[in-house]
Amino acid sequence: MKIAAIPGSLRRGSYNRMALRYIKEGIEETGNEVEVLDLKEYAFPIFDGDLEAEVGVPEIVAKFKSTIEESDGVLIVTPEYNHGIPGGLKNAVDWASRKGNPFRGKFVAIAGASTGSWGTTRSQIAILPVLRSLGMILLPNQIYIPKAESEFDENGNAKDEKLIERLKDLGKELVKAVDRNKE
Ligand code: FNR
Repeated sequence: MKIAAIPGSLRRGSYNRMALRYIKEGIEETGNEVEVLDLKEYAFPIFDGDLEAEVGVPEIVAKFKSTIEESDGVLIVTPEYNHGIPGGLKNAVDWASRKGNPFRGKFVAIAGASTGSWGTTRSQIAILPVLRSLGMILLPNQIYIPKAESEFDENGNAKDEKLIERLKDLGKELVKAVDRNKE
């Protein structure tokens, strides 16, 4: 099984990338594969209907879409910007949803880290109708990491063993949900 993982932050020192690493490890411990779709590499233009009319699906978007298509499940680990979904993440989802929706029917796990005290609660709530409109199936367990700067050390390692366990378990839960659905 392959899981496509999307960090919502492009930042190199991103806490969300740090958290994603442990969820990825949890998935890999079950013998499955994770492909990270790094939005810094998938530097999509802002969605523009005129551009779409001219070129259809840009090559870079097609590559992103095919990774989602080939995956059995999706993982999103995102910060919150101004109480909402980071623009880069929403833009990527919008592009990828055009000319055939690769997200439909896929299980999705979400988690997020922020330096605020709500730990991305609001962006995770904001993304729910988006995922629903795409026909995705959300795992019941979501992870919110508030005050992320105190949860990770300067090498990007999580300080709390319990948090590491919870993140790994989320990855394992996603694998189980996909497996159960195949039975
Ligand atoms: C933020 N940040 C933030 N934090 C939060 O808890 N609630 C919020 O609404 C916002 N809003 C916000 C807007 C913008 C434009 C930025 C750049 C940042 C702070 C945010 O949690 C912090 O920068 C995290 O470190 C971002 O995640 P990464 O990049 O570390 O993964």
